[in-house]
Amino acid sequence: MENIHVVFLFFAAVIASSSSSTGRFGGPCSKQDPNVDICLLHSFNSLAEYLKGGAPDFGIEEAEPIVIDELSIALGGGPDGYRASFKDIHATGASNMTITNVRSDLETHQFQLTLFGPHISARARYRSSGVLLLVRASGGGDYWGEYDGVKAKVYFRGSPYERDGRTFLKLEQLKLDFSVKDIQMGVENLHNGNAVLQAALNLFINTNAQELLKEMKPDLKRDLAEKMSRFLERILDTIPLDEWITD
Ligand SMILES: *[C@@H]1O[C@H](CO)[C@@H](O)[C@H](O)[C@H]1NC(C)=O
Repeated sequence: MENIHVVFLFFAAVIASSSSSTGRFGGPCSKQDPNVDICLLHSFNSLAEYLKGGAPDFGIEEAEPIVIDELSIALGGGPDGYRASFKDIHATGASNMTITNVRSDLETHQFQLTLFGPHISARARYRSSGVLLLVRASGGGDYWGEYDGVKAKVYFRGSPYERDGRTFLKLEQLKLDFSVKDIQMGVENLHNGNAVLQAALNLFINTNAQELLKEMKPDLKRDLAEKMSRFLERILDTIPLDEWITD
């Protein structure tokens, strides 16, 4: 459970500033500043940078890798429809993501961050069943994926509350979406060592990479949103609102 890796550093992004007038993360940003979103962008990136190697004062461990227990996909219906599950997914490269844009509504405490990562790599174990390209694709093995040009949007909304005479933000809602420009992936070390099956699977998943990603997205989004929410809650719990945004 303590696997709170800095899930998408982007998240990290989310806050800024310490109690001094010029905070650790460059803030605080003033609500009156017409360019407050640019100020927040700098602060969020500074915080992300700070959290990258892990931050015990935030109760945050090392940023890499992001670990996802399990994801599954199903293509086609019927008893022979192709199904695959991916376990022990380890993804690296998220700490290289930077926040490229911030849009905020400070009256209603809503934020939308755009993030970009040049490259993310993933490794996992997979098991599959069903028929793919006329080949019985039951078995398991190792999965690898290389994702170039990862763009993500994260939206969150908080509500302010008082604690020990300070104002903090409680996370009320978080949503995210992402896209990948270029995907390369494959399977190897198939348990039954069937070269025909391995070739068929690799051909199939590479020609249908975006489709497969789309298929995985609902699970992936849910899992990442949950990890990010926990991560963001930790940050919001640690830094009072008035330390990163002032009137
Ligand atoms: C981050 O980017 C640098 C420069 O491209 C690269 O050397 C490094 O391996 C990347 N880090 C991760 C965790 O992917």
